[in-house]
Amino acid sequence: MKIIVCKNYEEMSKKAAMVVKDVIGRYYRPKLGLATGSSPEGLYKELVKMYESNDINFLNAETVNLDEYVGIDPENPQSYHYYMQKNFFDKINIRKENIHIPSGSEDKLDEAVRDYNEKLDYVGRRDIQILGIGENGHIAFNEPAFKLNLRTSIVELTEDTVKANSRFFENEEDVPKRAISMGIKDILNAEVILILASGAKKQKAVKELIEGDRLDTKFPASMLHIHNNVVLVIDEDAYGLVGK
Ligand code: GLP
Repeated sequence: MKIIVCKNYEEMSKKAAMVVKDVIGRYYRPKLGLATGSSPEGLYKELVKMYESNDINFLNAETVNLDEYVGIDPENPQSYHYYMQKNFFDKINIRKENIHIPSGSEDKLDEAVRDYNEKLDYVGRRDIQILGIGENGHIAFNEPAFKLNLRTSIVELTEDTVKANSRFFENEEDVPKRAISMGIKDILNAEVILILASGAKKQKAVKELIEGDRLDTKFPASMLHIHNNVVLVIDEDAYGLVGK
C-alpha cells in the first residue's frame, strides 16, 4: 500500500486529482470507479478545474458508482445520483450513456441488483477506483459483518453509519436504512484503488487499515490488502494514530 500523507483536505484533494489525471491520461477510454461522501468532494472540484483548463478530458470516459440509498429519488438532493450530477457530471463533458449508478428504486430492487452486476461485467476492469472509508471500516456500503458480499447487493446500514451519514439529512430518522452497494469482488476489480480519508474521525479506521495484517470481515476495508496497487491519500489528522 502506498501512503501519501498531506497537510490538509485541500492538499489531499489536489494530490488525489493528480493520481486520477495520470491514470486518465493513459487511456483513450478511461474507466473510472467513483465514490460519494465528503472525502472525494474536493477531488471532484480539482478534476473540474483541470477539465476547465483543458488538462483533462472526459469525452470517452465511462464511470461506475459504488452505491445508492434505497428509496430515495435520483432528484432528491440526498441521493448519490444527485451528488454526482451536482459535484461532477454537470460540470464535465462526459456522455450521459457512459454514467452508471445503481438504482435504489424501492419497487424494483431485484432487477436493479441484476442490472448493475450486468453493467459491471460489461464495463469490466476499471482503470482506477476511488474510495472513501467509513469510520467503522466500511467500503462503499459493505458494512462490518460475519459475511461480506462479493457482488452488488441490497444491504442494511448499521446504526453507526446511519448516525455518521445523518449529517447530510435534516433528521436522523430521514436517513435510509438500506442501500444498494457494489460488493467486494467488484470493488477490487480495478487496476488502481485510490482511497481518501480526512479528519480526526477517520483516525481509527486509517490506523487499522495501515497496521492491520489480517482479512477481517468486521473491518471490510481490510479486504483491500488483497489488492496490490492501493494508494492511500490522507491528511495529517486522519493519519494521527498510526504508529501509536
Ligand atoms: C458513505 C458511503 C461510502 C463513503 C463513506 C465515507 O456511507 N457509502 O462510499 O466512503 O460513507 O464517507 P465520507 O467521505 O463522507 O466520510
